[in-house]
Amino acid sequence: MYIRKQRLLTPGPTPLYPPALHAMMASDIHHRTEDFRKIYKSALAGLKEVMGTSNDVLCFTASGTGAMEASVTNLFSHGDKVIVCSAGKFGERWGQIAKAYGLQMTLIEHGYGGTIAPERVEVALRAEPGVKGVFLQASETSTGAEHDVESIGKIVQQYPEALFVVDAITGLGTMPLEIEAWGLDIVIGGSQKSFMIPPGLAFMSVSPKAWERAKTATLPHFYFDMAKEKKNGDLGESAWTPSTALILALDEALKYVNGMGIKTLVSNAQMLAKATRAAAAELDLKVFAERPGSSVTALCPPAGLDSGKIVKGFREKFNSIITNGQGSMKGQIFRLAHLGYFDITDMFGVIAGLELILRANGVPVELGKGVAAVQRVYEESLTS
Ligand SMILES: Cc1ncc(COP(=O)(O)O)c(C=O)c1O
Repeated sequence: MYIRKQRLLTPGPTPLYPPALHAMMASDIHHRTEDFRKIYKSALAGLKEVMGTSNDVLCFTASGTGAMEASVTNLFSHGDKVIVCSAGKFGERWGQIAKAYGLQMTLIEHGYGGTIAPERVEVALRAEPGVKGVFLQASETSTGAEHDVESIGKIVQQYPEALFVVDAITGLGTMPLEIEAWGLDIVIGGSQKSFMIPPGLAFMSVSPKAWERAKTATLPHFYFDMAKEKKNGDLGESAWTPSTALILALDEALKYVNGMGIKTLVSNAQMLAKATRAAAAELDLKVFAERPGSSVTALCPPAGLDSGKIVKGFREKFNSIITNGQGSMKGQIFRLAHLGYFDITDMFGVIAGLELILRANGVPVELGKGVAAVQRVYEESLTS
């Protein structure tokens, strides 16, 4: 037996930034005091900076889905026509929320692994006058696919009645997102992703157009009240008792991320994703997504090998957690994450481990082939 450090290698929760964890220890603080207001204001300002927007940014104590639900209940009315783009588990979640609140939905679907072609959104908007919103994932974590947020945003912008609501829970920090230029009315993030802290906070940027809509929307809501959150946020407070520990962690992590700059964080994830794809090519593993993004790479195991065996191999041989496919994709793919506090050394280990796991499952892999590909991509990235 050897020491086997526990490693969380999933696309959320992601590895934690140690100084943010240490900051959580100062959570014997009251949330309606000047000391806390300073931290909360600083965290909200940091979120605006990381999202690169002058739109308002709100913070909810909830997982990301809470902010998804808030965008529906605060901005829409029963029976509103909406378009839901769905190409995976999280696209399906938009559909489930829209259905739960009685929105009239046109579903633009693509099989898992695919990406919604922007033209399909344009056709749907033209065919159905009066659409009040278009819902999309920037990055579909369940398949590793990335959507063309810019093109779809520019289409939706031509429809003054329609809000563009983007779940960027794994898109933030892994791909460029120009909130104002691309007309992204709502952009949603979650603490356990590129923010390098534990789950429990959800973020949302809100455009002036979305605020206008909020004035007339009639769906009921109480806990997730965007206007109340904004009013309190301006004073350095949250509407309800926030997770003070997570706010302290967030403020610390944002100092780190904004110190390096969002572009650096994004290019880190992009380089790791590129290196993973290069390793996959060497190991004859197919990348599952048509248009792979940089938050997570979903790979198909060799024919005849259940991806669960690879997930189990990481757990049992290396005490590391990677993710299997979700739902019907279980056994079909395994996912290697890149978002947030992942670095190239993690990737060397992941691919070296993967090679050993494949060999242990009878796949003839030449040791070091995948690792060498990762090294090459990394080395080239330093000079390009
Ligand atoms: C793209 C995407 N949307 C939504 C969610 C749901 O977020 P949460 O589990 O934080 O509610 C996730 C979480 O993995 C995600 O990756």
